Amino acid sequence: MVVSHYENNYGNAVRALNAVRRELAALDAGTPPYRLRGLKREELSLMGSVALHELYFGNLGGFRRAGPNSGLGRPDWHEVPDALAAEIAADFGSASAWRREFVGTAQSLAGGSGWVLLTYSRRQKRFWNQIATDHTQAAVDAAPVLVLDMYEHAYQMDFGVNATAYIDTFFRNINWEAVLKRIEAARNDQPLPNEDPSSTKDMPSVSVEELAAQIANGSGAQIVDARQRDHMSRHVDLMAGATWRDPDRVEEWIAELTPDKPVAVYCSYGFDVGRNVTKTLIERGFDARFVRGGIAAWYASGGARALRPTAG
Ligand SMILES: [Fe+2]
Repeated sequence: MVVSHYENNYGNAVRALNAVRRELAALDAGTPPYRLRGLKREELSLMGSVALHELYFGNLGGFRRAGPNSGLGRPDWHEVPDALAAEIAADFGSASAWRREFVGTAQSLAGGSGWVLLTYSRRQKRFWNQIATDHTQAAVDAAPVLVLDMYEHAYQMDFGVNATAYIDTFFRNINWEAVLKRIEAARNDQPLPNEDPSSTKDMPSVSVEELAAQIANGSGAQIVDARQRDHMSRHVDLMAGATWRDPDRVEEWIAELTPDKPVAVYCSYGFDVGRNVTKTLIERGFDARFVRGGIAAWYASGGARALRPTAG
């Protein structure tokens, strides 16, 4: 459900925002005011949707990250971590009072649409829970530090009309570390951190937009689909122009690559698999980069896909 939410709903917003900006860039002095106003409204809404979705996905994942003894995002988590409680107690009375209001606010949007945000107002130097009944309602000079998508597309597929179960599951899967880092940044007047786990400086990488531009310019980049074999058995399509190579058998196919042409390596989401293959290729002298966000980001940005040739 989260992958579909990312590729389709978030992806639609990214693609539409790019299209609106292209239209805005092409306008001339003869553009009627109603047309400009309409595009500006769409731009604002889509910018909000893109940013709120990125923050929402960025504060998921507590289940996966937290070990059983980390005290963060335990599967049985029903309390607020002490570090967060200390931050918000002054504004809500207690952490449980905050949680009660946040959950109640989310439930009030069940069956409809909107966002619930724990927001830090830089202007008023305080936290509060806000709703945004559409993407344009994030508050002025404020940083959303915990974001919950209450649009039905965020839960309908897995939870049906049971928004309460969705909210409960969301709470058990909050990545509190990300929330605490956002709070620290907001309090120090810093921009919220970039939570894309594939966006690191320790290895050469390429964004899906950069890769699309390189392909359009005829750079001759060799595109390696390095998704794991068991994953590929469930997928019939890949990035247009890519060749699937088993990430566990680099030695068997590395000699088939052309040494003097760049290589772009992607996996499902831009986590360890693509990075490990990229690292091996670099060690062997290739100009290799991994694709940030993997095939999910490629699809979300509207990149072309091709059917995978069946094994002969
Ligand atoms: Fe959404």
